[in-house]
Amino acid sequence: MTDAIIETSERPGTPVHLVTSDSLDAVLAETFVQGLAQAADFKARAGQILIVPNDQGKVREVYFGLGSQAGINLQTLRGLPAKLPPGDFTLTTLPEGLDAADLALAFAQGTYRFDRYKTRDPAGVRLVMPGVDLAEARQIAQACALARDMINTPANDLGPLQIETLARDVAQTFGAEITVITGDDLLTHNYPAVHAVGRAAVPHRASRMIELTWGQPDHPVVVVIGKGVVFDTGGLDIKPSSSMRFMKKDMGGAAHALALGRMIMAGKLPLRLIVLIPAVENAISGDAMRPGDILSTRKGLTIEVGNTDAEGRLILADALTRADELNPALTLDLATLTGAARVALGPQLPPFFTDDEDLARQIEQAAQTTGDPVWRLPLWKGYLDSLDSDIADIRNDPDGWAQAGAMTAALFLQRFAPKGPWAHFDIFAWNPRSRPGFPSGGEAQAIRGLYQMLRTRFHGV
Ligand code: BES
Ligand code: MN
Ligand code: ZN
Repeated sequence: MTDAIIETSERPGTPVHLVTSDSLDAVLAETFVQGLAQAADFKARAGQILIVPNDQGKVREVYFGLGSQAGINLQTLRGLPAKLPPGDFTLTTLPEGLDAADLALAFAQGTYRFDRYKTRDPAGVRLVMPGVDLAEARQIAQACALARDMINTPANDLGPLQIETLARDVAQTFGAEITVITGDDLLTHNYPAVHAVGRAAVPHRASRMIELTWGQPDHPVVVVIGKGVVFDTGGLDIKPSSSMRFMKKDMGGAAHALALGRMIMAGKLPLRLIVLIPAVENAISGDAMRPGDILSTRKGLTIEVGNTDAEGRLILADALTRADELNPALTLDLATLTGAARVALGPQLPPFFTDDEDLARQIEQAAQTTGDPVWRLPLWKGYLDSLDSDIADIRNDPDGWAQAGAMTAALFLQRFAPKGPWAHFDIFAWNPRSRPGFPSGGEAQAIRGLYQMLRTRFHGV
């Protein structure tokens, strides 16, 4: 899919005219095309296509609707590739306010399919954009595809070891260092919560703490943390089957962290990057952590496990403590942390949490310009005491009265958050149904915006 956007080709591509509904009449100058448009009810609605044939029945040109100029959404371009026959295409004019490379990125993302288990050929649609530097767009598309592939890969083929292998691949590509602490070594290296959550898995799927380091030591440290639960059965507080069905995606945060790290390294951002991935399986066995168990943590706080299904915040607690030791200028974590986040905002709009107003504004601004939406929710301190435990420092299952599950999970993490600016993203990482350019299955959320935010924050561009 990353060769879907190219700067040059041997032959000029078939012209694609992007049209807004406002400009439709002006654009359809030729009577022949006007007639076709009328017959096909082409109104340039967002995602609508009009294919104009030549006299040999081949494609002469294409009109693709973007809806009204005021409501233009970059992501509409994701719906284009699937509507085109195989071949090379070129955009004739760029609509006002849209960047060529951004359009190309959306197009590239629209060609994504998860084909690891399919034997069909890919569609072979390419967008040619002469004179536009697409190297970065290609890197971003490739990183997002990596995240989506990881999320889509079922747990039998993606255990903690496979996450480690993929992280090592990425590290090697960009000359990053990587250290991995596995199994019972997690205890001697003081990651007790990561160990406890993954303890029930079979030995070849043992827990690990993956730490990837890249960039000059004198650059500001940015830590990116991802929840890597390769499968979430719920543990002894087992999930009902309907809730467990898609829990292969519970390593979505890890996939996102690795993908964002890949973008940062490919883009050579002037920062010192640390990616932290606690990779575990929340399995069930005689050795599984039990409801009521009290865990120690890297920070030294004790956690009463009121519910073994609130496992993500346990492993993130240790990872956040590790981040603090690295004196970060900024810490981001991404996690498929709560069902409550989806209830609050639905599958398309991930909530994020931070008490840093500048960071929040930068995140919102970058999300807006990249068309990668997020929505800020508060860390409402009134709900803090829902995390009080009678016999430990904190509990992992907030008392029901507080209700706001995404928020109480974020408040839990905040107890372990490092000094300095920190933002937490509770992502869904999944398209529950197919829509144009967004096939059902794994989805990359928030990281294109975060990459843009980091570029601005650390590079000034
Ligand atoms: N991985 C789940 C959260 C989840 C569920 C994300 C469905 C996306 C879709 C997480 O580990 C979990 O089970 N959370 C519990 C927490 C509760 C037990 C306090 C939840 O959200 O119900
Ligand atoms: Mn869970
Ligand atoms: Zn989980």
